[in-house]
Amino acid sequence: MDILILETSEQVANVAAQRFQDQLGKKPDSVLGLATGRSPLALYHLLAEKCEAKELSFQHATSFNLDEYLGLKAGHPQSYRAYMQREFFDQVDFPANKTHLPECGADEDPAHAAERYERLICDSGGVDLQLLGLGRNGHIGFNEPSSSLGSRTRVKTLTRETVVANLTAGEQSKALPELAITMGIATIMDAREILLLACGTDKAQAVQHLVEGCVCARWPASILQMHEHVTLLIDEAASQQLELREYYLHVQQQKRLLTDRVRREPVLIGAGN
Ligand code: GLP
Repeated sequence: MDILILETSEQVANVAAQRFQDQLGKKPDSVLGLATGRSPLALYHLLAEKCEAKELSFQHATSFNLDEYLGLKAGHPQSYRAYMQREFFDQVDFPANKTHLPECGADEDPAHAAERYERLICDSGGVDLQLLGLGRNGHIGFNEPSSSLGSRTRVKTLTRETVVANLTAGEQSKALPELAITMGIATIMDAREILLLACGTDKAQAVQHLVEGCVCARWPASILQMHEHVTLLIDEAASQQLELREYYLHVQQQKRLLTDRVRREPVLIGAGN
């Protein structure tokens, strides 16, 4: 696990945007796993600026969002589809038919809609880079505590805490649905690379369990310890409860020194050792 502790949430967004730019540079037709919530907002705005400046393009990319509320009408302003259109898709050059969320038609069985979504991800070749936020209770996507660590896309009941945490200031008097369709934990773990963003003191406990706790369904994000290519981008505040915080900072410093050395003295293949 690559743990990057950065001073501010702006730096977190900057590093994440660079990671997306590199991914699209390397593979323009990448399959991107996207997230909602407050955590990716600054990242989406930076990506929109880069797209406007022609530094990157989503023209050949495909996206799959982690989750969507169940029971909101298509186009409902509180739906994650509306969020994604407003905050990201409408600002970039993503072809409309290449952006996906686990939506369920009014007459459709949600279990079928979930299975269909899982199949679609698979048929698209799987997710290359999955973006994640982190719930205060350790959820990823809408995989609330007690979610099976082997779960696939399905319907989940949200905790009261999650429903309340996801209300924005203007929505406090409104009600949000208590059910959602979410990629499962095993679905998320299938991604080739994972980038998780967490900022602020209210994420510190979940970050500690994610990195240093036991792998368990009580803290679903702890499963990421089992993934080979995970990068955590966290700010100072979110890192405060990490027991081995100083060590993670030291590791990053060593990696930087190593990268600088390799740049200065390129390793010559066959130079004898
Ligand atoms: C919601 C989303 C998650 C997101 C989490 C954190 O529950 N379903 O995918 O990671 O909120 O949200 P925020 O970034 O607003 O803290």
